Amino acid sequence: MKNRITLILGTTRQHNESQKVARYLLEKIEAAQLFEVDYLDLAQIDLPLLDERLTHHPQPPRDLVIWNEKIGQARGILIVAPEYKGSYPGSLKNFFDFLPQGAFRYKPVGVSTVSSGAYGGVNCLAQLRLLALSMGGLPIPDDLRVPQVTVQFGEQDQPGENFATKADKFLHEFAGYVKALSRLIE
Ligand SMILES: Cc1cc2nc3c(=O)[nH]c(=O)nc-3n(C[C@H](O)[C@H](O)[C@H](O)COP(=O)(O)O)c2cc1C
Repeated sequence: MKNRITLILGTTRQHNESQKVARYLLEKIEAAQLFEVDYLDLAQIDLPLLDERLTHHPQPPRDLVIWNEKIGQARGILIVAPEYKGSYPGSLKNFFDFLPQGAFRYKPVGVSTVSSGAYGGVNCLAQLRLLALSMGGLPIPDDLRVPQVTVQFGEQDQPGENFATKADKFLHEFAGYVKALSRLIE
């Protein structure tokens, strides 16, 4: 059976561009039959601002319970997030703050960051890697930065060949870490 991963779209902004990148990765994974994927679009779940952590919550939100369980079963985490104000979106941090300590333990974390500017969300990337570490995850060395997202993904929502090659390399490396780290929990 294929390994299961969670792919998180880390913004709730209406009409966000990052969803194009997340869906593109999802399609690539499915076409190559790399993993089983639970796709989490933060805009599609019902989650308040943090009032208490899941482990201490008197009435945990239902979607939080569901997604905590899926993340628990995942052998790796892929995050696609736009850079907002030189960092990751607050909605993503809000979700992570609900999760138990060590929620990413033994899981490789692949990070793809998105921006409309030239740098591809490099500040968001660095900070998300630290965040992943603090949750017990292992950020992988490769990344998938997406600068000028509206140019790269254009009208057809399909990027050019260079980007496709980078995405393949990123997913290939992520898959290697998923396989290697899975042995720690088998
Ligand atoms: C609240 C907010 C803050 C932003 N801050 C940055 C930033 O610090 N650096 C940057 O390169 N782009 C920034 N952007 C532009 C995003 O890169 C751009 O919206 C891009 O399309 C990715 O975000 P999206 O997925 O929400 O569309 C910001 C956009 C928003 C909505």
